[in-house]
Amino acid sequence: MPTFPVRLDGSLVLLGRDPAEVAGQPTSPLEPDWVQADPRRIRASLARASAKPSGGWAVLDATRAVREANAPRRYVVAGRELAAWWDGERVKVAPDACPHMGASLSCGHVNESGEVVCPWHGLALGNTAHGGWAPLRAHDDGVLTWVRLSALRAPGEAATDVPVLPARPPRFLDAVVRTEARCAPEDVIANRLDPWHGAHFHPHSFARLRVIGEDAESITVRVVYRIAGRVGMEVDARFHCPDPRSIVMTIVAGEGVGSVVETHATPIEPGRTAVVEATLAYSERPQMAWLPRAGALMRKLVQARAARLWDDDARYCERTYQLRTKKTALTVLDDAEIPAPAEAE
Ligand code: FES
Ligand SMILES: [Fe+2]
Repeated sequence: MPTFPVRLDGSLVLLGRDPAEVAGQPTSPLEPDWVQADPRRIRASLARASAKPSGGWAVLDATRAVREANAPRRYVVAGRELAAWWDGERVKVAPDACPHMGASLSCGHVNESGEVVCPWHGLALGNTAHGGWAPLRAHDDGVLTWVRLSALRAPGEAATDVPVLPARPPRFLDAVVRTEARCAPEDVIANRLDPWHGAHFHPHSFARLRVIGEDAESITVRVVYRIAGRVGMEVDARFHCPDPRSIVMTIVAGEGVGSVVETHATPIEPGRTAVVEATLAYSERPQMAWLPRAGALMRKLVQARAARLWDDDARYCERTYQLRTKKTALTVLDDAEIPAPAEAE
């Protein structure tokens, strides 16, 4: 007996539950993707997301990346140089400048007390403020570490004690990728608010993507995720933005319902953004109970797929940023420059 149902659909071999059994078939006739991907429609979704509060929080990195580094790590968030380290129990985040003479603390080490030790003259810093230096508010959500900065708040927006945290499955295999793109955070969110590019721009990963539902807060797609070549799984996936710099995809029908992919865009400095994407894979099938414990190899496979998609999408985001900031002018021909049909052949 196969572990999953298998069905043939055109040239595709689809494993797992058919999402149409739960959600039904789309009823409205579909326009071509390039018509549906209306820039005004995407901008309106982005404007709604951008107006949401963040409480001053942004994702720094995978908690595992800081914990396993065995040394302080350097980050830049909204132009602020930060050092992050594991103190033995939790992630600490602080300005990356020693209060004595300004050495970079991320070039130091962590002592047995969990303090970061300055590389220049050995000042040990931890929970206590020292001169103008003090640890920042950080939050470990179990997979990702967030940092709170006043520079991340919109004018008039209040700081909150914790970030806006999306719902997660009850147990999961987590895989996080972190990459950088030469763009603004809004380009990353806008990229995910344009699902119509999926099967065209990432043919190695997606096939037959259709938008099957849309409201003010979310957009739902039915898409075949390619496992290998013609073999894939068809799922319904809902995208929503819990805060202005995050977009979350949740599988709502098909195989792996409740699994999420959280994409977080953290400003580094103008024109540079960190993309931190956490895949939390879940299956309610008893045969898949091993999944959350699958460990390093499965994590690396998921990370490799996510990184490949972000190789593509970083180029998409960088292009939209260039167009938006007028570094690249769209080529629009005058009437006189448009060749007659016979000339164009
Ligand atoms: S610069 Fe850090 S102890 Fe002197
Ligand atoms: Fe994409």
